[in-house]
Order: sequence, then C-alpha cells, then structure tokens
Amino acid sequence: MAGVPIERKAETPSHVAIIMDGNGRWALKKGLPRLAGHREGAKAVERIIRAAASTPGLDYLSLFAFSTENWRRPRAEVEGLLSLLKTYLRSKRDELVENRVRMVFSGRIDQLAEDLQDEIALFEKATARGDQLTVVVCLNYGGRQEIVDGVNRLLRKGFAGEVTEELISANLYRPGIPDPDLVIRTSGEVRISNFLLWGSAYAEFFFTDTLWPDFGEEDLKKALDHYSLRERRYGAG
Ligand code: IPE
Ligand code: IPE
Ligand code: MG
Repeated sequence: MAGVPIERKAETPSHVAIIMDGNGRWALKKGLPRLAGHREGAKAVERIIRAAASTPGLDYLSLFAFSTENWRRPRAEVEGLLSLLKTYLRSKRDELVENRVRMVFSGRIDQLAEDLQDEIALFEKATARGDQLTVVVCLNYGGRQEIVDGVNRLLRKGFAGEVTEELISANLYRPGIPDPDLVIRTSGEVRISNFLLWGSAYAEFFFTDTLWPDFGEEDLKKALDHYSLRERRYGAG
C-alpha cells in the first residue's frame, strides 16, 4: 500500500448505513405499544429513503431492519415486526420503482418464512433497474454471521487455500456493494450491535440521541455535514 494516494476529503458519503434504533422507547414515551413505535419507524424509513435518493453523491443506503439477535424478543413483537415489513413491501413497491430506487436484501434471508422470501424476491426483481439509490435492507442480519457464512460459502465451493481479505469480501452477502463510509446510530446507544462488522472497518460513525421514529431529513443532513468535516486517514498518518 506504500505510496498509494489516500482520498482524505470526505465530502458526501457514497454509502450511508443506519442502525435504526429507539422505536420501542419512542412508543413507551407516548404510552403506546412497541409496535406503534415500529409503525412510526417505517414512516421514518420512507422519509430517509426519499431524502437519500435526492442527495447527489449518496448512492447506497443500508438499513438495519432486523438482527439475528432480534429473534430473542417476545414472539408477538417479532411477528408484528415481520408482518409490518411484509405490508410495507407490498404497499411501496410501485412507488419505489417509480422513484428508481433499487432495493436489495442482506442477511440470512433463506431462514425467513416462505411468503416473506417470495415478497423479497418479487421486490428485488421489480426494483432491479433503479438507478437513483440502492437501499440495502439488512434483515435477519448479523455481522459475525455474515463472515461465518462467507467462509462457509468458500469451503462449499471447494476452496482449500489461504483466505485473503479480498476472498472474504467477495463472499459476503452483497459483494458488489462498497463498504459503508458513514454509520449512523439513533437513540443514544453507542454500540455496533453486530452490524456491518467487516465492512465498517474504516467507516466514520455518527451517534445521535434522536429516536428513530423522530429521525428526519434534517437529522440526515446534520450527519452528512459532520461527515464532510472529517478527515479520513486509513492508518496513513
Ligand atoms: C429498533 O427499535 C427496531 C428494531 C430493533 C427492529 P427498538 O425496538 O430496538 O427500540 P428500543 O431500543 O427498544 O427503544
Ligand atoms: C440493533 O438494535 C438492531 C436493529 C436496529 C435492527 P437493537 O435494539 O436490537 O440493539 P441492542 O439490543 O440495543 O444492542
Ligand atoms: Mg433497540
């Protein structure tokens, strides 16, 4: 790597990834059931997709929708969340196609219910030509699992040599998608919770106390403004 020029000026991140946290607390504060918070969170998703699609230079938006650990929640909440997602996918498909948004899914999709998998396949196909923004929905996603699944994929292909960074990168869930430049987490928690462990090696982080259902275009803009002031060094001093 010696002598390789490093792009330090951050400007607009090409790939923004968001840990959408705080739906439950939003609902609790209002005396509503947690699912009402998730419903309101879905509206924030719509707002942020719209805002991201109209931001020049922002090409990829990853959204942490459901982690491999979220199955530990009460069954009613898990079912409510997944059924909300299915309804969302059904009702938004045409609109996203119209707005030229491509949506892909990342995670252990094959472990989800068949009808949800069918909906996902339909969705990916319908939006495949979107060239305005690519939204990566991280669903039944875990960062460690992604690395484990990638290595197992290599082994299944009969690979018997030394693994390299390039080989692991090429065998992740969505190998064509570049690493995130900026990771945002809402709700005041300062942790990664098994999100893009491999990809975020050199990402910048932005934490905000705003709860996800309250997160809007202005909050995104603020995160992007912070990012533009950062100097990325990649270890090069
Ligand atoms: C984020 O909100 C949504 C998911 C994890 C699916 P939470 O449900 O985690 O909300 P809090 O953290 O309990 O407030
Ligand atoms: C991370 O939030 C997962 C998603 C946003 C989908 P959690 O609320 O599950 O994370 P922890 O439990 O606070 O670490
Ligand atoms: Mg949470």
